[in-house]
Formats: sequence, structure tokens, C-alpha cells
Amino acid sequence: MAYDWYKDAVFYEVSVRAFADSNGDGIGDLPGLTSKLDYLQALGIDAIWMLPIFPSPLRDDGYDVADYCDIHPDYGTLEDFGRLVEEAHRRGLRIVVELVPNHTSDQHPWFQASRDPNHPEHARYRDWYVWSDTPDRYKDARIIFIDYEPSNWTYDPLRGQYYWHRFFHHQPDLNYDNPAVQREMMKILQFWIDQGADALRIDAPPYLYEREGTNCENLPETHAYLKRLRALVDAYAPGTMLLSEANQWPQEVRAYFGDGDEMHMNFHFPLMPRIFMALAQADRTSIEWIMARTPELPPICQWGTFLRNHDELTLEMVTPEERTFMWAYYAPEPRMRLNLGIRRRLAPLLENDQDRIRCANSILLTFIGSPFIYYGDEIGMGDNIWLEDRNGVRTPMQWTAAPNAGFTAPDVPAERLYLPLIDDAVFGYRTVNVAAQEAEPDSLLNWMRRALQVRRQHPVFGRGHLILLAPEPKSVLAYVREGPQETVLVVNNLAAEEQRVTLDLGPYVGARLEDLFTGQTEPETASEAWTLTLPRYGYRWLRLVGLGPRAAESFHEEVVARCRA
Ligand code: NOJ
Ligand code: CA
Repeated sequence: MAYDWYKDAVFYEVSVRAFADSNGDGIGDLPGLTSKLDYLQALGIDAIWMLPIFPSPLRDDGYDVADYCDIHPDYGTLEDFGRLVEEAHRRGLRIVVELVPNHTSDQHPWFQASRDPNHPEHARYRDWYVWSDTPDRYKDARIIFIDYEPSNWTYDPLRGQYYWHRFFHHQPDLNYDNPAVQREMMKILQFWIDQGADALRIDAPPYLYEREGTNCENLPETHAYLKRLRALVDAYAPGTMLLSEANQWPQEVRAYFGDGDEMHMNFHFPLMPRIFMALAQADRTSIEWIMARTPELPPICQWGTFLRNHDELTLEMVTPEERTFMWAYYAPEPRMRLNLGIRRRLAPLLENDQDRIRCANSILLTFIGSPFIYYGDEIGMGDNIWLEDRNGVRTPMQWTAAPNAGFTAPDVPAERLYLPLIDDAVFGYRTVNVAAQEAEPDSLLNWMRRALQVRRQHPVFGRGHLILLAPEPKSVLAYVREGPQETVLVVNNLAAEEQRVTLDLGPYVGARLEDLFTGQTEPETASEAWTLTLPRYGYRWLRLVGLGPRAAESFHEEVVARCRA
């Protein structure tokens, strides 16, 4: 097995609850997901990242864990998980499990024992959480869920002290200064490896430790602990990938890769809103700006990229001016805003403009790193901003036009569904569903399948260097992906109008340009003024053929030097 499999992978993020209900209780479950593996295989993804599946009161959709080593009864059993892993592996698909190390639910037995001086296990668990006599400590730490929480401290009358929480008040932070906590989380990691997990997404890693006088994020102690998790993985199950969710600026995120000895992957949070900005402004500048601040990674490491996920579209990693712009443009209705973000899905954000949606996906699938696709976005599902918190982007998957959208049996009363289906005129399940799009050759789903197939044939997308080109107009985002085996040119038109653009392909003069989708070769070879016309939001993925054998590294330097000149 290649230890760096994640560099070639496309990930699919799925809420088990939302995907497919096998037993008619109105809640998606593991057997349901297992029954859809053929669909995911045909889509062309490589790995499935599941939102938390553990026992939980579900006040934060499972990120409030009540038992780390079992399955929520709504979703099935550990045997069901085992079957999912087996069936996924049989199809060459990998499974990513959540590890939520920072906090538990307040219903977790550890917290119950910790808060209650009369609990028989109190002595053992007393110091498993961060307790304080005053709410005045760690004042420099920001509040993350600003729409819901006034403070990072909540008073517990039973214990007579305040407990620390970076997220909801019902999610007390574990105390990582306690070696017992450190050891326990390592055992939990091993448990999921034993169950067959190929990778773990590490939730909210910046917040593991607290120190007075700091913002309590990205502390050296946190990195030291993450390195221990990594060392454990390397010793226990090499090839298991750790993916971190550090929603930080690139220079801070860089530390989570260490010297290749911490996390294998990190999401590139600041890039994501800038793809939306570039499309809104028909100007690539914001992408160039963040790439100029994106450091090189150790060789075995990889960025995770995405357009949308299960949370609000976060605007934490933009400037206040950019945030104002993004809110005004993409969230004109106040209800669309949540915390420092936007609670909408990809297709509604892009006004269901099919060209624009393909353009966004063209960037996602060809830019740096390994892409993550959020369930339902492959068919352009809509959202429901009137549902609580982030539920509006977590509605049932739309499989068919039948009652209940094929998510559950048609005779299950609609009120039993864990959340209502999207049922509006534009995005409703009768219109937007898998079956309809499978039958329609030009559907978004079939486009995604083709695009993923093309990407799979060209490892340069996951592994190659990225060289940004600088053509006029700025409404064109063009780059070269370059690896030892091949070189690919990608051109995206960020504008709603047709564009004619001239590219300086000086380093590649004479190369033939072969379209990766059609296999057809352009009439003219690459030159210092190679001109093409792109339709509105059009994109081209073109292989540069006939460059002759070159030492990839020295060639790369030549190209970089030329582009900087
Ligand atoms: C990040 C997760 O993506 C989000 O859904 C969750 O609410 C917080 N971490 C707290 O666990
Ligand atoms: Ca069910």
C-alpha cells in the first residue's frame, strides 16, 4: 500500500444521518451508507469522511461525543461499521473517521463524574476537564460560536466551579495537562484503527491546551501532543492518515505539518472563501494573494481543499473588508449569516448557475492538494436557511423524485425524517436528484463523474507543483501543474462573459496542447503568446505534450524563475 495514498485521493464528506435510511426510522444509518457505496465508486471518489457516528445527545450533530468507542444507535452498530469498512475496501474506497479530541459532551460519563463530587468515580475524573473558580482566566481566547455563546466559561452548580469550553457550553474541553487524558485519546485512536479506519480527521486541534497570556490556540504543547499522536500512528499502523482541521492562517497551519512528523494533511481554510471571492469579483487577485502566503509543505504532506462542508462557509480567515464583501454578496438575507460565516450550500451560493458551479469545481479539482466534495454538492443540492444552526446544509440526500426522495421508504411519514427534505421550486428533490441526473448526459452529476475520471488519470493534479500564470485579464485564473511525468495547463474564466486571453507559455514553446476531456489537440502549439477563447465561466484542462525528457526539478526552477521575472 502506498503510504501517501491521500495525495492521489478525492474525498467525499458525508453525514451518515443524511445519506440513506435503511430501516425506515427516518434517519440515515451505516447500512444505508453501505448500500450506496456503488454510487460513490461510480462517482469516482477515493475516500469517505463521515461526520461523527458516536453515541451523542446530538446537540452539535455528534461533535458532542458521549462515548468514543461505540456507534450511535440511530446509525447502527460496530458490526455495521465493520461491514461498511469491508465493503468500502472491496471497492478500493478508504474510510475516514472523526476523532474529536478537544471536548466531549456534557453527557459523557467522564464529565458526569468530574462535575459531581459525590460520584463514585469523581476522584479519578476530577481533573479530566478544565475547571476554575473564576471565569476570568484565559481572557485572550476568542469565542468561536459567537451567535450562541457569551463566554468560554460556564458555571456548574454541582461542582461549584466554572468549566472551560471553546465551542458550545454543553461541550466541555478535556484537560490535556492531565496525562490520563492524553493516554485515553491515544487509546481511542488505536481503537478506530483496529476497527478499520484508514484515516482520522482531527477535529479542532488548535485548542487542546490553554495557557494564560496567550490566545490559547496553536500552543507548543498542542503541537507536541499531536506529534505524539502521529508517532503512535506511524508505529501502530503506518499509512493511516491524520487530517487536521486547523482553521488558521497558512503560517499557523504550516506548524501542523511539522517536519512531516505531525499531521499528514490540513484543510486550506483561507483559500476556500477566496475562490468564492474570485468568482464574485471576476478577479483572481484574492487567490494569488493567499497563494503568495501559502508555504511549501514537507514532501509527504498535502493540503485538503474544499468549496463547502457541513459547517457555515467560514469567514474567519479573511480580512474584515473581505468579510463585509462576502456577506453582502453571498448572504444578502441576514438569516443566511451564522457566526462568522454563511449557512448556504454551493449551488445556491452560485445562484444555481451551472457554468459557474462547474468552474468552481474545475478549480477545486485541479488546484493544489486533495479535494473534498460535500455530499449533495455533486448534484447541486439546495439548502434551507430557516432550519436551526447549520442544519440547513445537512438535509436528506436527494436520490429520486419519489416521496421521501429515495432517502427512506416512500411510506415513512414526512414528520419522521430527521430533517425536512428540500422541497422548493428550484432545488426541491423532485427536480434535483441523483436518478434524474444519471439519466441526463449533461447533468452536473455526469460532469462531476467525467471530471473525477480525468483527474484520476493524471496524478499531477494531486502531486505536481503549482505555477500560477499572470495573463491579462485578471478574470482568468490560469496555472500549470507540473510533475515528473507530465505537465498540465489549466485555464478558468472567472467571468460571466466570454473572454479572450493570451498566455505566455514560453517555457513550453512547441509543446502540443491536448484537451484532457476530449483528447483533441489544439491547432496551434504552445508559444509565448498562445491565445484562446473561453466561454462564460469556461475552463480548459490541457496536457502539454512533447516537452521531451527533462529533469523535473531543474525544469520547475526554470519555470518558476521565468514566471517571477
Ligand atoms: C468543527 C466541526 O466541523 C463543527 O461542526 C463542530 O461544531 C466543531 N468543530 C466543534 O466540534
Ligand atoms: Ca435508519
